[in-house]
Amino acid sequence: MNLKIKKILSKKNKTKIVSLTAYSESITKIIDKFCDIILVGDSMANVLYGHNNTHKITLDNIIQHTLSVQKGIKKSLLVVDMPKGTYSNPEKALKNASLIMKKTKCDAIKLESNKVNFKIIKILVKKKIPVMGHIGYTPQFKSKFKLEGVNKKESGNLLREAKLIEKAGAFSIVLECITPNTAKLITKNIKIPTIGIGASLFCDGQILVTDDMLGLSGFYPKFVKKYADLNRIIEKAVKKYTRDVIFNNFPKKKHHLNGTKFRKKK
Ligand code: KIV
Repeated sequence: MNLKIKKILSKKNKTKIVSLTAYSESITKIIDKFCDIILVGDSMANVLYGHNNTHKITLDNIIQHTLSVQKGIKKSLLVVDMPKGTYSNPEKALKNASLIMKKTKCDAIKLESNKVNFKIIKILVKKKIPVMGHIGYTPQFKSKFKLEGVNKKESGNLLREAKLIEKAGAFSIVLECITPNTAKLITKNIKIPTIGIGASLFCDGQILVTDDMLGLSGFYPKFVKKYADLNRIIEKAVKKYTRDVIFNNFPKKKHHLNGTKFRKKK
C-alpha cells in the first residue's frame, strides 16, 4: 500500500486529517506543508471556470490542473476527482481512472457515490487504484443542495452506503453536508477515515475549497470559515497599481531594464 495512504489510515481516532483543494502549482506550494491531503476537485468548475455546477469539467481539465498541482506538491497525498460521466460503467471507470493515474502520477482518485456504483470502486481497488468515496451531498448526481441525514431513515441509509464503500475497498470517504449526528454515527461505525465538509467536527478530518476559506471565491455558505479576505487584499493592490500607472508612479527608474541584472534580489 502507498505509504501516504497508510499514514492517512493511521490517523483515524488519533489525529485529525487536514485537507484542502488545489488546482495549480502556486497555491499547492503554499498549502502542501500544512496538508495531509490535497484534492484536485471538480469544484474547479465553479471556482475557476464560472460554471454553476460541476458537470462540464472534462477529463482533460482535471488532468491539466493535476499536472500543475503535481509540480508544487512534496508531501501531501494527491487525490484527483473523476469528472461526471467518466465512471458511469466499470469499463469506462477503469479506463479513465487508469489514464488519470498514469498521466498525473497522483496517489488516488475520488468518485461520488450514486448509491449503486460500489462495484466500480471494487474493480478500481482490485486494479490497485486507491479510491476515496464521497457521500451526502454529491454535486455530480444531485441538482439541488440539500442537507443529508436529517432523520433516522436517511441516517441509516447513509451509514449503509458508507459501509458498502468501505467494503468495496475505499481508503476514506468525504462526507458532504451531513448532520452532526449522522456524521458521528458513520465515523464511529466504519474503520476508514471520514473527511467532512459541512459535516461537523465529528469527522476524522476536514476539507474546504481553498478559494472559499481564503475569501477569494465569493461563495461562503455557513459551513465555510473565512480565514482571509483575499478579495479585499487583491482589490486594494490592484487599485494601488491602477493609481500608480495613471499618475506615472510605476514603473520607476529601479524597475527599468537597461543592461543591469534582470532579476532583483529577493
Ligand atoms: O470538488 C471538490 O472540491 C470536492 C470537495 C468539496 C470535497 O469534492
